[in-house]
Amino acid sequence: MNSLSIIEKKRDGESLTAEEIRFFVDGYTRSEIPDYQAAAWCMAVYLNGMSRQETADLTLAMAESGEMLDLSGLLDTVIDKHSSGGVGDKTTLVVLPLVVACGVPVAKMSGRGLSFSGGTLDKLESIDGYNTKLTRDQFTAQIRKHGIVLCGQTADLAPADAKLYALRDVTGTVPSKPLIAGSIMSKKIAAGAEAIVLDVKCGRGAFMQSLDDARDLAQIMVDIGASLGRKVTALISDMSQPLGCAVGNALEVREAIDTLHGHGPADFIEHCLIVAGHMLRLAGKSQTEDLSDNRPILEEKLHDGSAWEVFRRLVNAQGGNVDQIDHPDRLPAAPVIIDVPAPTSGQLSAIDAREIGIAALELGAGRHKKEDPIDHAVGLVIHHKVGDTTQAGDTLFTVHARNAEAAQQASRRVLAAHAWAEPVDKPLLVYDIISSP
Ligand code: URA
Repeated sequence: MNSLSIIEKKRDGESLTAEEIRFFVDGYTRSEIPDYQAAAWCMAVYLNGMSRQETADLTLAMAESGEMLDLSGLLDTVIDKHSSGGVGDKTTLVVLPLVVACGVPVAKMSGRGLSFSGGTLDKLESIDGYNTKLTRDQFTAQIRKHGIVLCGQTADLAPADAKLYALRDVTGTVPSKPLIAGSIMSKKIAAGAEAIVLDVKCGRGAFMQSLDDARDLAQIMVDIGASLGRKVTALISDMSQPLGCAVGNALEVREAIDTLHGHGPADFIEHCLIVAGHMLRLAGKSQTEDLSDNRPILEEKLHDGSAWEVFRRLVNAQGGNVDQIDHPDRLPAAPVIIDVPAPTSGQLSAIDAREIGIAALELGAGRHKKEDPIDHAVGLVIHHKVGDTTQAGDTLFTVHARNAEAAQQASRRVLAAHAWAEPVDKPLLVYDIISSP
């Protein structure tokens, strides 16, 4: 077996065996296979796809490329959530404390931004001192003591994914169903998750732009989970427009804090309640399969300050500056802030989430290359959502930029991302739900 023949086989549209996939994944993880060969292989997979069996084999090979965590002695149910990536998606910052406040401890490893989509770790690092790099011992000590952990992958967890993820980001091979499914599910399986809620984003600001593709990706991941004995629920949720209003790291942390105080944007609050409801159900905290069952407790914990207190506990436990979250105006702030007015009156028919994500990336909220620094202060706040009516001159969005030129460029792009047309319905938040049997 050799790496070249495996690349050629995939290039020619043939199926790889489990042994070939493992040989390639292990060789790349140990740096015996160079980046240029792995990049060629990713592109061959992107172009020719993988069968369900190959995708399951890839997932397992990546999960087993490092340490496999077993938290079953520490938690009643090891429950996890994962988003396939979107614009303004700060759901984890609210949902984790909310679920923990309802009596379900959660230990979660999150990722960084990828392409135009943001990442939870980058958002958390807007808070001075917040340590996203916990050792295995710190991770387990914290879940024991505080019932909540939110950090990056430990170096030894699914290291194959960490390498491939960074390589895909710079080789145009992110939006591949088998590669996304393998990437997400390998991390969840290596982290010992017994039950997983997947938030599969669909629309312009997602890696899957059509409902059919998002459904297909969701089904692949649900099947992989089920074949490994995991309970999985996948929501297919809207990412045609940004989720909530804030896009950009510190701005999103502020919006999450507002939400934890019960004042966030309506669509974002609703989305968090849905995701948290599915997590509680999978953790066995619902009397019935009906989500309305656990809705009252989730609303109570969001509005009575319990979820906020858990978030404070999390930030404190991970070394973050609690003063900054108590006074969000002390989070990083951009020097140039401009309000941009609506040029016309009428009903908003589209806010292109991808364009908004790219504008935030160009402002410095994301990375072009994996070693690029992030500017935590910059980003955008949109003030109206699809279906809202604006009057000419109303503030449409606010740009937070490092300098006036960057602000002007972002304004042009974000303005062009808004459309007014015939009356439209507000997009659904969740299009479909696929669950393992
Ligand atoms: N999120 C992941 O963890 N991996 C991907 O490939 C895409 C989104």
